[in-house]
Amino acid sequence: MTRPPMPDHRPDRVRFWRHLRLFRRDILSAQPERLYRAKMAEVRLPFLHSVMVNTPDLVRLVLQDRATDFPKSTRVREGLRLLLGNSVFVTNGATWARQRRMIDPAFEGGRLRESFPAMWDATQAMAARLHPGELEVEQAMSHAAADVIFRTLFSVPIEDAAAAEVYQSFRAHQRSSPILNLAAMIPMPRWVPRYFPRRTRATAAQIRRLITQMTAARMQAIRDGTAPDDLATKIMTTSDPETGARFDTAEMVDQVAIFFLAGHETSASALAWALYLVATHPEWQAQLRAEAQVLRPHLDGPAPDFSILRQMPLIRDTFREALRLYPPVPMMVREAAGPECFRGRKLGAGAQVIVSPWHMGRNARIWDAPHDFQPERWQDAGTRNCARDAWLPFSAGPRVCPGAGFAMAEGVLMLARILCDWELRANPDRVPEPVAQLTVRARGGIWVEMVPAQG
Ligand code: HEM
Repeated sequence: MTRPPMPDHRPDRVRFWRHLRLFRRDILSAQPERLYRAKMAEVRLPFLHSVMVNTPDLVRLVLQDRATDFPKSTRVREGLRLLLGNSVFVTNGATWARQRRMIDPAFEGGRLRESFPAMWDATQAMAARLHPGELEVEQAMSHAAADVIFRTLFSVPIEDAAAAEVYQSFRAHQRSSPILNLAAMIPMPRWVPRYFPRRTRATAAQIRRLITQMTAARMQAIRDGTAPDDLATKIMTTSDPETGARFDTAEMVDQVAIFFLAGHETSASALAWALYLVATHPEWQAQLRAEAQVLRPHLDGPAPDFSILRQMPLIRDTFREALRLYPPVPMMVREAAGPECFRGRKLGAGAQVIVSPWHMGRNARIWDAPHDFQPERWQDAGTRNCARDAWLPFSAGPRVCPGAGFAMAEGVLMLARILCDWELRANPDRVPEPVAQLTVRARGGIWVEMVPAQG
C-alpha cells in the first residue's frame, strides 16, 4: 500500500522573513507538522493577527453558528475582483444573501437530475479523448470539468468557440497571475498595494468580455422565449422571493465567472488526486472497476437516470476519501467583525480567522490513520461523526458550496467512466508533490499510466 504524498513541513520556529517567503511560495509546506494536532495556531505581527482554528467547536462557531460575525475577508475580495467582480463568492451581508436566494434553487436535487444528461455527454466526450500511455490527469480533468460547466450552464460543449476561448484565456490568466493563488488571499498589511500585472488585467478583461457576450445572448434568448432549459436560464429567470428582482446581465456575469472558476478548478483538482490514489491502490481499483460496469449497458445510448450513481457506493466513498486527503480549497479565510476571545486568546476586529479543510481532514485527534488512503472507512458508522466534525471540502454553514451535490455527482460519474475502460498505474518515479495554487495541485502535474482494462 502506498502512502499518499504529503507536502514538506517547515520547522516549528523560523524567522519571519523566511516564513513569509515560504508562505508566498506555497501555504501548505509553509505550515508546521504540529498543526495536525494543534487546537489553534496564532500569528501575531504588528500589521497582521491571524488564527487558524482547528477544533470542531470553533470551526462550527465560525462557519455556522455565528457565520455573520465572521464575513469573508475584504482582502480575499481584492485579490479576486478582477475576475469575479461582485460574485456571490466574495460578497457579504444582504447582497450575498440575495444572490444565494437566486442561485440555490438551480442546484437543488431535482434540478441536478435535469443537469445529469449534459454531465453524461461531457463524460462521454472526455472518455473519447483518452489514449493508452502516460497522461497528465490535472490537465485532462480541467478540460473535462470545464466542459461539464459549459454544457450544464449554457448547453454548449467546450469546443464551442466562445467556451473554448474562455477556457484558453483562463489558462493564460492563471499563468500570468501569481496573484491568483491562495497565498495572495492571506492579507498583507493594508499599506501594501494590490498590484496586478498588465497581462493579468488583460486576460481577466478578456474572460469577462467573453462571458458578457454569452450572458447577454442568453438574456436575449430568454426574452425571445428561445432559451434552452439549463442552469443559466434557471438562475436568470429565478426571482428573489423577498424582492421579486432578478439578476441583470452585469450581475449575472459575475456569477457565471464564479461558476466557471469554482466549478471547474475544484472538480479538476479532486478528480486528479482521486485518479492518482486509485492508481496507487490496484486491489481497490479492481473492485471499483467491477462496480463501474453498471455504466456499460448505457455507453452507446442516451444518458441513464441520475439514480444510477447510487449503484456505485465504493466509487462515491473513494471520491469522499480523496476530498478528505486533498480538499481542493485547502484553507478559507474569514475576518472577525468584532472583538472575540478564542481559547483564551483575544482577537480584535479585523483579525483573520482561518479554517483549514486540509488540517481538519487530517486531524490526528479526529481521524484514525489520518494520512492514509482508506476509502473503506466510509462504510463505518463512526466515520459519520468524524465527517460531521471535520470533513469540510465543501465548507459548511450558510456559505457551504452550492455546487456540492453537483460536484459529487460529477466526481462519481467521471471516475466510474474512466475506470469502466481503463486500468490506471502509478509511476513510482513520478510521485506528485502537493502544492496549494488556486486549488491543491501537484508541482509538475499528476501523471498516471493509462492501460486498456482487460475483459
Ligand atoms: C469538488 C468540487 C468543489 C469543491 C471542493 C468546492 C468547494 C467549495 C468551498 C470550500 C467553498 C467555500 C469557500 C469559502 O467559503 O471561502 C465553495 C464555495 C462556492 N462554490 Fe464550490 N466547490 C466545488 C464545486 C463547485 C461547483 C461545481 C460549483 C458550481 C457550479 C461551485 C460553486 C461555488 C460557489 C458559487 C461558491 C460560493 C458560495 C458562497 O460564498 O456563498 N462549486 N466551494
